[in-house]
Amino acid sequence: PDRYGVMGYPISHSRSPVIHRLFALQSGQHMQYELLQVAPDKLESAVQQFQRTGGRGLNITVPHKSEVARLADELSDRARIAGAVNTLIFQDEKIFGDNTDGIGLVRDLTTNLQLELRGARILILGAGGATRGIAGPLLDLQPRSLVIANRTLAKAEALATHFSSYGSVTACRFNDLPDNEPYDLVINATSAGFKGENPPYPESAVGSATVCYDLSYGLTATPFSQWAAAQGAARSLMGWGMLVEQAAESFQLWRGVRPDTITVLNQMTINAS
Ligand code: ATR
Repeated sequence: PDRYGVMGYPISHSRSPVIHRLFALQSGQHMQYELLQVAPDKLESAVQQFQRTGGRGLNITVPHKSEVARLADELSDRARIAGAVNTLIFQDEKIFGDNTDGIGLVRDLTTNLQLELRGARILILGAGGATRGIAGPLLDLQPRSLVIANRTLAKAEALATHFSSYGSVTACRFNDLPDNEPYDLVINATSAGFKGENPPYPESAVGSATVCYDLSYGLTATPFSQWAAAQGAARSLMGWGMLVEQAAESFQLWRGVRPDTITVLNQMTINAS
């Protein structure tokens, strides 16, 4: 079988092997997908060894997504703009780096959840690597405005500047939103939930028509998704759909086949609830 895998540190909780095995089964692809725990100082040698021993592709996850971009011979535009890579393709002795996180989120929002985001007002909470990965693809949808709110203003400002040529982006602190009207979509891209923390998210951002989306996901409701539901959001969703959709985009890059994501998403979330 052709070899694929996911590299991260730590990696034991990754659902990628399950998702890719379900995709492979579904589409009759002869492949294997390994879970590879790789410490930051071993990343380069681990990638090279995987390539040398016939590996065909890798997913790259926390904390390696920006570091691994240096190892690619060529990057897609979206990986370059995001400054991060979550998918490597090994072909003709070359390493091609791509990033399917943003398009995975967009597919979940627009195809699975049927949201109309053209002309919408979008708020992203957080200004780290996750925000950098999704801002470009969200701006491609031509929202009316994109606000990046962060605990540390300077990081939000740096991202707003980075993305300013792609659409209307502004930066602020959590308690200093540019307007008091609820947003159409509020995305949590902070890593606070991971650490079991719940920062003072801006309450005025959420109204009865607001869709809230946490990039994190869990077997039970994440702190942000609980907070959003308590604010009376129209919907409060976790990032299971993005997880499966970004995997499907990687699978398609590797195998040229588009898997049926809805079946797999149902399998994942039924197991989770
Ligand atoms: P990632 O790659 O997951 O985005 P990161 O680059 O470390 O990780 O960014 C983490 C984000 O979560 C940042 O926006 C961070 O805010 P700061 O820029 O102010 O550090 C945010 N974050 C993490 N813990 C937080 C907390 N307890 N309260 C508010 N924001 C938090």
